[in-house]
Amino acid sequence: MPLILTLLGQFHAYAEQPLKLEAKESTYQFPFFDTKTPVWSYNGRIPGPIIYGKEDTTLVIDFLNKLKEPSSIHWHGLRIDNAMDGVPGVTQNPVGPGENFIYRLKLEDAGTFWYHPHFNSSEQLERGLKGVFIVEEAEKQPWSRDLVWLMDDWLLQKDGSIYPKFNTGRDLMHDGRWGNAPTINGKFRPEFTVSPGERIRLRLINGANARIFAPHIEGLSADIIAVDGKPVTQIFPFDRFVLSPGNRIDLDLTIPQQAGGKTYIVEDRFSRKAFKLASIIVKSAEPLSPPEFTPPIEANFIPAQMFDRVKVEKTWDLNAIRGGKYGIGWTMNMKLWPDADKADYPLGVPRKIVFKNSSSRLHPMHIHGVFFRVLERNGRKAVESFTRDTVLVGPRESVTIGFVPEHPGVWLTHCHIQSHAEAGMMTTIDVKN
Ligand code: C2O
Ligand code: CU
Repeated sequence: MPLILTLLGQFHAYAEQPLKLEAKESTYQFPFFDTKTPVWSYNGRIPGPIIYGKEDTTLVIDFLNKLKEPSSIHWHGLRIDNAMDGVPGVTQNPVGPGENFIYRLKLEDAGTFWYHPHFNSSEQLERGLKGVFIVEEAEKQPWSRDLVWLMDDWLLQKDGSIYPKFNTGRDLMHDGRWGNAPTINGKFRPEFTVSPGERIRLRLINGANARIFAPHIEGLSADIIAVDGKPVTQIFPFDRFVLSPGNRIDLDLTIPQQAGGKTYIVEDRFSRKAFKLASIIVKSAEPLSPPEFTPPIEANFIPAQMFDRVKVEKTWDLNAIRGGKYGIGWTMNMKLWPDADKADYPLGVPRKIVFKNSSSRLHPMHIHGVFFRVLERNGRKAVESFTRDTVLVGPRESVTIGFVPEHPGVWLTHCHIQSHAEAGMMTTIDVKN
């Protein structure tokens, strides 16, 4: 059974044996070239297999590293045991070539998550190591379809190979490595065929190394029902939501019953010039009647009021300096990882943190193992109706967030633009019981 599921590119939690993930060199056929592109993949697939788990169960994953360099797997967004968080040098030793590591994941939260290495990440993610991790709700909802779109962005050369220089001066002086071939589930401008009347849960994940997407579906309205894996506080309409690397949204999308024969274009509107990402083609068929139900929300999860009387405990100033491994360092309070300005927090006490961007670049800041709420922007109240694990801090912007440390351990906190993180923009929050 597990073998067949592997062939289908999907893993299910009810597989009895541990699921096997193998990082290895393989090849992948992009549509632009005659030859296959050498990539690094999980189980030979681009993107890696979708892992399906169930809320309140434990999933065991046996990770085997067949690369020529160390690696690890981080389960982005999942609140799990710190020892399973997959950060070499912080929560575990690097998994060397030929070695394995067994991850035991106790799944607390249902929703859309993803996994990727946390070693030489700029290169390892870029070469293809990533996959979606879906934790299913104990109580299933009658969606007509559950669609997963892992958005990515490749920097390919004319001969089809991946541009082999990482953390270049150019990447570091800008917003990391932006590519020339955006893909969804590894496909360039894929077409998705649907039926009129279908009600679709569309999960969008930005798994790119650095590119920021702001997807827009022309002519179709949709609601955002979850952000970064967690149901929202209040459902709101989807309108140019900015997805930085690490971010996810779940959309509630109904294909109009009279839309048979139509094509909807999905485009990115983050960049000055919009570009096409995908199309949704509606079959000319008898319309279905969309299932009726209300997706769950989390109205009371770390509400903003909880932080009303909490003082800002830490301000992390984000900036660049000369120096470090690559000649340009990205700092948090003038420090470069691993010599970082760290935080120590007791369990269960609400905390407020400010990410203050003193640079003119973008920094999607991510905290491992927690959800947080954006409370203020530039010192002004700006409470979001959802929680996140990654927030984009724009040039010269400051963002105040609130969260409650709920799991003991050392949790990595960093910019999710991989070259910025590798050039120093990382620290930890040490939560003690
Ligand atoms: Cu996607 Cu350190 O995380
Ligand atoms: Cu950054």
